Amino acid sequence: MIEDAAGIQRLIQASPPLDVNSTYAYLLLCRHFRDTCVVATRQGQLAGFVSAYFPPTQSNVLFIWQVAVHPDARGCRLGQRMLEHLLARPLTQSVASLETTVSPSNQPSRRMFAALARARGAACVEESMFPPELFGQADHEDERLLRIAPL
Ligand SMILES: CC(C)(COP(=O)(O)OP(=O)(O)OC[C@H]1O[C@@H](n2cnc3c(N)ncnc32)[C@H](O)[C@@H]1OP(=O)(O)O)[C@@H](O)C(=O)NCCC(=O)NCCS
Repeated sequence: MIEDAAGIQRLIQASPPLDVNSTYAYLLLCRHFRDTCVVATRQGQLAGFVSAYFPPTQSNVLFIWQVAVHPDARGCRLGQRMLEHLLARPLTQSVASLETTVSPSNQPSRRMFAALARARGAACVEESMFPPELFGQADHEDERLLRIAPL
């Protein structure tokens, strides 16, 4: 819901190393991409968020953009459960592979996606996607593509 956008931005602010996007970007995600996004609440508070979309020319690929779990809710497999929830929706039943990017040092993220691949008996392959120099002046880590398939 668009009412979630400001809270999502606060959750992302509390979830380094994620890039914090504008409130407007989260409003667009909540409005135009709600079918491929997930929010999780705990006791009325926003505890988790996943943004994802189908790349315009690849309708059988689900690209996961940001996954965030509130620091107080980590370690309970909420991240993995939100991804599984997304993959259980009718809209994603024709998805053949899940793609995302991870930085080399983000072990929680890598482990979460590895656990998903393991649970599905899928392979997880890694290749170059957005090397650091593409981020301009910003001191940004490499963002490497992970492809989990077949789903
Ligand atoms: C990455 C993140 C979403 C994981 O959420 P989570 O709900 O705590 O993760 P899960 O409980 O689903 O864990 C899934 C796997 O990752 C492992 N894991 C999670 N956090 C970990 C940590 N800090 N260190 C080591 N392993 C970790 C779990 O042990 C589990 O692996 P296993 O099945 O082999 O035991 C969360 O740590 C987060 O929001 N981080 C900041 C934002 C970020 O980096 N997002 C990911 C990039 S898009």
